[in-house]
Amino acid sequence: MARLVVKGGRPLEGKVAVRGAKNSALPLLAASILAGEAVTLHRIPRLDDIAVMLDILRSLGLGVATETSPYGLTVHIVPGLTDYRVPAPLTRRMRSSILVMGALLAKGGQVRIAYPGGCVIGSRPIDLHLNGLRKLGAQVTEEGGTITAAAPRLRGAHIHLDVPSVGATENLMMAAVLAQGATVIGNAAREPEIVDLQIFLNRLGARVRGAGTGTIRIDGVERLGGGRHEVIPDRIEAATYMVAAAISRGDVEITGVIPQHLDAVTAKLREVGVTVTTGDHWVRVRCPRRPRAVDLTTLPYPGYPTDAQNQFLALMCTAEGTSVINETIYEQRLKIAGELRKMGARIHTDGRVAVVRGVPSLTGAPVQASDDLRGAASLVLAGLGAQGTTVVEGAQFIDRGYQDFEGVLKKLGAEVYRLKPEKVDSLSNPGTARHPGAG
Ligand code: UD1
Repeated sequence: MARLVVKGGRPLEGKVAVRGAKNSALPLLAASILAGEAVTLHRIPRLDDIAVMLDILRSLGLGVATETSPYGLTVHIVPGLTDYRVPAPLTRRMRSSILVMGALLAKGGQVRIAYPGGCVIGSRPIDLHLNGLRKLGAQVTEEGGTITAAAPRLRGAHIHLDVPSVGATENLMMAAVLAQGATVIGNAAREPEIVDLQIFLNRLGARVRGAGTGTIRIDGVERLGGGRHEVIPDRIEAATYMVAAAISRGDVEITGVIPQHLDAVTAKLREVGVTVTTGDHWVRVRCPRRPRAVDLTTLPYPGYPTDAQNQFLALMCTAEGTSVINETIYEQRLKIAGELRKMGARIHTDGRVAVVRGVPSLTGAPVQASDDLRGAASLVLAGLGAQGTTVVEGAQFIDRGYQDFEGVLKKLGAEVYRLKPEKVDSLSNPGTARHPGAG
């Protein structure tokens, strides 16, 4: 268990550059399984979830080497699939491990994987992934917590998703690129990370179009080559620093972003009275006074992201008036309300709805982060805006999605430090890319 100590009451000021998007990097790494030649991915963030995905690729036989650059990691991947079984201890650590299913099936004809773990934010079924793969012709069996799927070659199909699941859309895109014939995914997720995946797959020689709309068409090809790609900026990391600026009543410029990806967050912050200005690749957030309360509903992109909901909830705790937060994506994503109450927040929750009556100020307190990395980061934000000292227990969850969170906040003038048992950093070992046959 790591602990973050935050002394509140200091307005954040300065500039912060965001890293590459975790939620783009993970599917891009999974898609590298499909490549017939070497792949290089730039701007991969140094995060615990990324380390898990790299370990999964290595365990499947791919050659993986990492280099550090000022913009994150550069990851080189050499093909060489030798296994179709994803080790269960890795799968349990991260839900996104399920993303290798489609690529493994398409490239190797089979996959065996345990049900995935990940942030505990409600029931997170994978029925849409499995039903879609069945539609593409895979034989899928589920037994004792393990999923096995096989198909000599997948066949294109028309798949309509019940809900626009990000992961299912990505998994099915990856499965379909090497299938025989055309696949159409209806009610597809429209997140920017899906567009990034389409660009990468097409760079390798795939024929995918429609990403960013509700209908994606994939014309199967015989094989993919290799290539280079740079991951898009992390819009959720950016949103977190935007709220950090607002909650601390500060003035922060966030650089290296695509401002359009932040439209929903920018609109909400402006609605509460925060000044947000944007340029080509930056957003600046200024909040000299107490924000006013407004309501919020989370929605799939381009709506307000669930991954930035807890941050906004923390901001609303000290807003003027009453705010209603409606979480429509996950049923357990208001868990931090109980912790915020320990800091003096007045929040009433009923299922997926929180009613927040703003108080003039929160008071620092010991709080416990649970296994939701965005919730954990949001408790730190609450601490930044509170009077006195907040101790966030369970801060290691933050490392799954934010690189050097406290380092960034410190640079912006926050008084924050970590009390921790030393973390083993498996990303600091550069390793060697193995060529198939080179051992
Ligand atoms: C991705 C993001 C995660 C974000 C979420 C929603 C990554 C690595 N993670 O997660 O940070 O919170 O999108 O924006 O990109 N569902 C089903 N059946 C399925 C799959 C999903 O019912 O087979 C439901 C889920 O329970 C949830 C909703 O669909 O209610 C959205 O989930 P989904 O879009 O799949 O999220 P992830 O891809 O897991």
